[in-house]
Amino acid sequence: MSQASEVPAAEARAANAPLIEVVDASRSFRLGSEDLYAVKNVSLSIQRNSFVTLVGRSGSGKTTLLNLLAGLDHPTEGKVLFEDRDLATFSEKEMIQLRRGRVGVVFQSFALLPLLSAYENVELPLRIAGIGAKERSRRTEEVLELVGLARRSKHRPFELSGGEQQRISIARAVAIQPDIILADEPTGELDSTNASNIFGLFREMSRDRNMTIVATTHDRTLLEMADQIYEMADGGLSQRADLSADPEAMFKRPDS
Ligand SMILES: Nc1ncnc2c1ncn2[C@@H]1O[C@H](COP(=O)(O)OP(=O)(O)OP(=O)(O)O)[C@@H](O)[C@H]1O
Ligand SMILES: [Mg+2]
Repeated sequence: MSQASEVPAAEARAANAPLIEVVDASRSFRLGSEDLYAVKNVSLSIQRNSFVTLVGRSGSGKTTLLNLLAGLDHPTEGKVLFEDRDLATFSEKEMIQLRRGRVGVVFQSFALLPLLSAYENVELPLRIAGIGAKERSRRTEEVLELVGLARRSKHRPFELSGGEQQRISIARAVAIQPDIILADEPTGELDSTNASNIFGLFREMSRDRNMTIVATTHDRTLLEMADQIYEMADGGLSQRADLSADPEAMFKRPDS
């Protein structure tokens, strides 16, 4: 085989390779004399530009798994690969770079800075990433508009409702234009219209803006907007249905 034809083949492989791969990962916590497994033997491939949702009862391990995907925590067994590299081997500097531009996290608790306005909360990560003033204000205004909060930009978090704070935290993650957004219950505080708008935004970003989305939710009415649905129970993960292949699949019973 000539060298010329090997190059595109390697590129094609890279394009098809998962962005994040979880390989038989577990995360246990020592409680007294016992190990509590918050995540247990999970394997998962997250393809680029896909929109993945994670459902499961409270305490099933969703946040723990999302933290592993973000490299905020590491598995006690198994590994998590980001572009084929074990996240546990990333240096602190590499982790900071990842978080500045490539991995956006929406925390279940929003994690907004209380003394900054909505606008400043969204703009700060762009400033830290070294993005110029003009582009910063363009992006900040754009994402505030996308989440429907352009008119709340001067408010500080305590002057916003829970749902508005939640939308600011989503805008902040979107603004850095990361490769992947990991969103933990991003619609937990939202009414059904706003929740469906946010999931619509995620779907659009995964299709048209080259982003990959992983979002946990309790809201089953939102699931059909995703490409894949995974369900967690007692730390274990199972795939509900591949909706991109068969949009009706989620409505079929496993035994039918
Ligand atoms: N730091 C910790 N130490 C001990 N146990 C923990 C820790 N973090 C999580 N757990 C336990 O792991 C399990 C999974 O927790 P996790 O937060 O991942 O659940 P979840 O699916 O996100 O729940 P929710 O829907 O309520 O947010 C829970 O039983 C929890 O008590
Ligand atoms: Mg959680």
